[in-house]
Amino acid sequence: MQIAVPKEIKNHEYRVALTPTGARELVGRGHTVTVQAGAGEGAGFADAAYEAAGARLEADVARVWEGAELILKVKEPQAEEVARLKAGQTLFTYLHLAAEESLTRGLMASGATCIAYETITDRQGGLPLLAPMSTVAGRMAIQAGAHSLEKAQGGAGVLLPGVPGVAPARVAVIGGGVVGENAARMALGLGAEVTVLDKSIPRLETLDDRYQGRMKTVFSTADAIDEAVCECDLIVGAVLIPGAAAPKLITREMLAEMKPGSVLVDVAIDQGGCFETSRATTHTGPTYIVDGVVHYCVANMPGAVARTSTQALTNATMPFVTALADKGWQQALADDPHFLPGLNVHDGRVTYQAVADAFGLESVDPASLLG
Ligand SMILES: NC(=O)c1ccc[n+]([C@@H]2O[C@H](COP(=O)([O-])OP(=O)(O)OC[C@H]3O[C@@H](n4cnc5c(N)ncnc54)[C@H](O)[C@@H]3O)[C@@H](O)[C@H]2O)c1
Repeated sequence: MQIAVPKEIKNHEYRVALTPTGARELVGRGHTVTVQAGAGEGAGFADAAYEAAGARLEADVARVWEGAELILKVKEPQAEEVARLKAGQTLFTYLHLAAEESLTRGLMASGATCIAYETITDRQGGLPLLAPMSTVAGRMAIQAGAHSLEKAQGGAGVLLPGVPGVAPARVAVIGGGVVGENAARMALGLGAEVTVLDKSIPRLETLDDRYQGRMKTVFSTADAIDEAVCECDLIVGAVLIPGAAAPKLITREMLAEMKPGSVLVDVAIDQGGCFETSRATTHTGPTYIVDGVVHYCVANMPGAVARTSTQALTNATMPFVTALADKGWQQALADDPHFLPGLNVHDGRVTYQAVADAFGLESVDPASLLG
C-alpha cells in the first residue's frame, strides 16, 4: 500500500504520525512509505533516519498527498489539508469531529474514508489511542497550572506544595479518567491537596483504592463543582463523553466565586471545553484571563513534548496502522470490533452516531459498509 506521512501544520504541533522504527516495519511488510521532508524533525527524528528505514522522502507536500492510499497524521486536518483529501483515500488521525462542524462537512465533501484515533475502543471499554495522549496531557496540566499560578502569568502567586508553615494549594480535577488520574497523581506528587470529581462510582472506587485516601474522591454534582470553585486554587477540566461535545460544568457566573488569580486548565477543550469561558488557545499564547481567573486551554498539549508524545502515540497506533496497510480499511475494521467505531466519515456520510447527533446529520451504521 502507498502510505504517506505529511508534516503536521497545526500551530506548534511537532509530533509526527510515524517514527523511523514504524516506517521500517511497514516497508518490511512490503508497503511504500513516503514521508514529507522535515516531518519528524520537531520530534527529533531526522530525515536521514526515515531514509535509512527504507522510506521515501518527498519535499513537495502536494506529491506527498497525491499518490497516497493511506494518510497517517496526528492532528485533525487543517483547511488546506482537507482540500487535498480525495475519494479513495483513507485518513487515519485524531479528528474530534463532534466539536468541529465545518471540518465534519469538509471531510464529508472530500469523499474520503476518515478513521479517528479517539473513537477506537478496547476490551475494557477504554479508548486506547486517546489514552497515551491523555496521559501526557494530564501530567502536563499540572505543570501548566502550576506555572499559571505564578504572579507574572496573572496567577495568585501560589506555590502548589506550599512550604513548611504555609498550606499547600488546593487542586480539583473534574473527571477522573486517564487525564484526570494523571493530573491528580502529578498534583499529589507536588504536594498539593487534591480532590477528584467524577460521575462514575466505579472510577472513584478505583482511585480511592489506588491512592489509599491520599486524594479525596467526590461524586460530581453541580453542588460539588460549586464547592470546588469556591475553594480551589487550580481546577483541571478532564471530563469526556465519548464522541460528544463536553458539558459546560463551570459557568461564567461561577467565576465570580473563584479566588482572584486562581487557574482553570481545560484539557477537554478539544471536545469544545468543559468551562463556559473556555476558548481554544495555542502554545504561543496558552493563557488568557476572564474575571480575574487565568484560563489555560491549549487544544494540543502533547505537541509541546513532541518526542515523548510521538513515541507514546505510535506505540499505540502501530498495530492499527499495520492492519490498515496489510488488509485495507474494510477488512481491518471487519476483523476487529474495537477498530470499527474508529470510522467517522466514509464516502460523504457520517458513520459515528454522536458526531451525526451533534450536527443533526444522518448517521450510517459502519458495519453496513464492510461488504
Ligand atoms: N487538550 C489536549 O491536548 C488533550 C489531550 C488529551 C486528551 N484531551 C481530552 O481530555 C478529555 C478527557 O480525556 P480522558 O482520556 O481522560 O477521558 P476518560 O474517558 O478516560 O475520562 C473522562 C472521565 O470524565 C468523567 N465524566 C463524564 N462526565 C462527567 C461529569 N459531568 N463530571 C465529572 N466527571 C465526568 C467520566 O466518568 C470519565 O471518568 C477529553 O476531552 C480528551 O479529548 C485533551
